[in-house]
Amino acid sequence: MAADLSTTFTGLTFRNPFLLSSAPPTESESNILRAFEAGWGGVVTKTIGLHPVVNVTGPKTKFLRADADSARLSMKKRPGSALHSSWNWELISDKTLEWWVPRLGRIKKAFPDRILVASIMAGSGNDTELRHWQTLATACQAEGCDALELNLSCPHMDRPDMGSNVGRDKELVSIVTKVVKDVARIPVWAKLTPSTTDIVVEARGAFLGGADAVVSSNTFTSLPLIDPETLDFEVHVDGFVSTGGLGGPAILPLSLAKISQLTQAFPNRSFSGIGGISAFDHALNYVLLGCGTVQVCTAAMLDHAIGPNVIKELNQGLAQFLEKHTDRGWKRLDDFIGLRRDRVVSQSKIRRPDEKDYRGGYETEGYAEPVTT
Ligand SMILES: Cc1cc2nc3c(=O)[nH]c(=O)nc-3n(C[C@H](O)[C@H](O)[C@H](O)COP(=O)(O)O)c2cc1C
Repeated sequence: MAADLSTTFTGLTFRNPFLLSSAPPTESESNILRAFEAGWGGVVTKTIGLHPVVNVTGPKTKFLRADADSARLSMKKRPGSALHSSWNWELISDKTLEWWVPRLGRIKKAFPDRILVASIMAGSGNDTELRHWQTLATACQAEGCDALELNLSCPHMDRPDMGSNVGRDKELVSIVTKVVKDVARIPVWAKLTPSTTDIVVEARGAFLGGADAVVSSNTFTSLPLIDPETLDFEVHVDGFVSTGGLGGPAILPLSLAKISQLTQAFPNRSFSGIGGISAFDHALNYVLLGCGTVQVCTAAMLDHAIGPNVIKELNQGLAQFLEKHTDRGWKRLDDFIGLRRDRVVSQSKIRRPDEKDYRGGYETEGYAEPVTT
């Protein structure tokens, strides 16, 4: 019997828990249709906004690679190197809401059983801006979108009331979520920025505003490296760069730490995990820490733009995992979500060779006596 890969997340039934995240793989109707044909359980559209978007001159995304036999880290393509991360400074969709609306309707009609999530973003500095969130939300849900994802996390917006600048402010997170929830008839997911001191604070704001799920991580604020030969940044325009977002393998452990904080603080809430996933083993980490779905960007960008091989491996990986663990009675993803959530504990709870030597940093430290020779 074929394994049951389906799951229910925020009340929606997914044929599998794997989504393409909001990014170039989901920037067009043709990409999204191809993604569904390839087997993705859901897609989150490239973020749709109401303000005009003009991207920088030149490449918007580059890939940083590492060598096995040297310390070299560089975006220069070369044989034998392995992917370290993606770096991008791409803004949200440069297509208008009017462009998106008929396409969303068509996609949903072509694949009624797949989950289509509309990612949206507006400002939050005044009531007019807040109403823009509602305009975006109502237009997308009218076309049959199954959920809304609020982009509170784009790391390269200049405006202080947009993107990760909202995601860093718990009150604004709460207000924006509430404003969208006031008009939404479909689930609302809040995608938060990882570039903050304590993501639990902003997640609390999102849940107070009524969010049905929290999504993490968007890319981490970062800079490209400087080329030691030219002394220019590896990505620049006329010698200048601004901070952008790091994704891909390098952020997998960083994003897992964020997810662990979130799922421990809110064990009964829904989370969608993103960051560095290119294979089932990576996705499994997110699930075991408490995520009900996971999303992929960088790996899909590098696999025929929408990740046909990535989704194939993810589905096969989950099927094989379920098969391997039938003796535990696991039949579906839900049977092992959060299984390792409580294994992340404070330092003082980790066993030491001699318990009395460690005082959690509060009293005279228990350093070993210097060795005298
Ligand atoms: C080129 C590029 C564009 C992106 N655009 C968006 C966007 O419009 N909205 C959004 O919420 N996230 C955006 N992201 C972030 C991704 O959805 C994802 O959260 C991030 O890349 C981490 O996942 P990964 O490690 O699989 O790449 C973008 C990422 C990249 C690389």
